[in-house]
Amino acid sequence: MAIQLNYPPGATPLDGDELASLIPGHITTQGELNEWEQLNIVQGENWARKQRKEILNEGFLRQLHWQMFGETWKWAGEFRKSDKNIGVDWLQIGVELKKLFDDAHFQIEHASYPPDEIAVRFHHRLVLIHPFPNGNGRHARLMADLLVERLGQPRFTWGQRGLNTGSLVDASETRQAYISALQAADRRDIAPLFAFARS
Ligand SMILES: Nc1ncnc2c1ncn2[C@@H]1O[C@H](COP(=O)(O)OP(=O)(O)OP(=O)(O)O)[C@@H](O)[C@H]1O
Ligand SMILES: [Mg+2]
Repeated sequence: MAIQLNYPPGATPLDGDELASLIPGHITTQGELNEWEQLNIVQGENWARKQRKEILNEGFLRQLHWQMFGETWKWAGEFRKSDKNIGVDWLQIGVELKKLFDDAHFQIEHASYPPDEIAVRFHHRLVLIHPFPNGNGRHARLMADLLVERLGQPRFTWGQRGLNTGSLVDASETRQAYISALQAADRRDIAPLFAFARS
């Protein structure tokens, strides 16, 4: 049976090959896919919080994506092999990540920015590189959470604090606020994303 997937604003659509790589055979709707993915992601988060190893390297980055999406997509943990509407030229992913890790290490070592800002800047650059075919937003938010925790701060709330219950994954006001904040960061204004991450 064909699967109808709907994309919230700012999401990267999957191409046919990518869709053919869905692991669970019983999924036919977006709702079922969301539910399955969410369970897998929770397992990935639990795995991540037990790790004591270095996180700012390609090995950990890919392993984390695999832990979050490995029971959902056959290409989990593998970089993109085509260009998307967001992201660097797919051939540059490895090089761009190396620069990102080097910059983050430098910023941490020299306390160039407060911990929150180091992690938020890292998040934005990681989604701009867009290493994977899908799951980049969720993976990069968890990477930023792990990074800020390693820097001694609580994890980010990403618009989920207080009464706001809008989901980041669906089209919602929270989602809109997140995408707008990323677009401001694209224009080199990091402040809205910085505020959003703790809202
Ligand atoms: N203008 C932008 N600048 C930087 N990053 C962006 C922009 N628009 C979208 N993004 C990022 O791309 C992500 C969507 O990519 P992808 O579909 O691979 O991730 P995802 O985890 O499946 O997304 P999500 O769960 O947020 O829908 C968004 O969550 C956001 O982090
Ligand atoms: Mg997506």
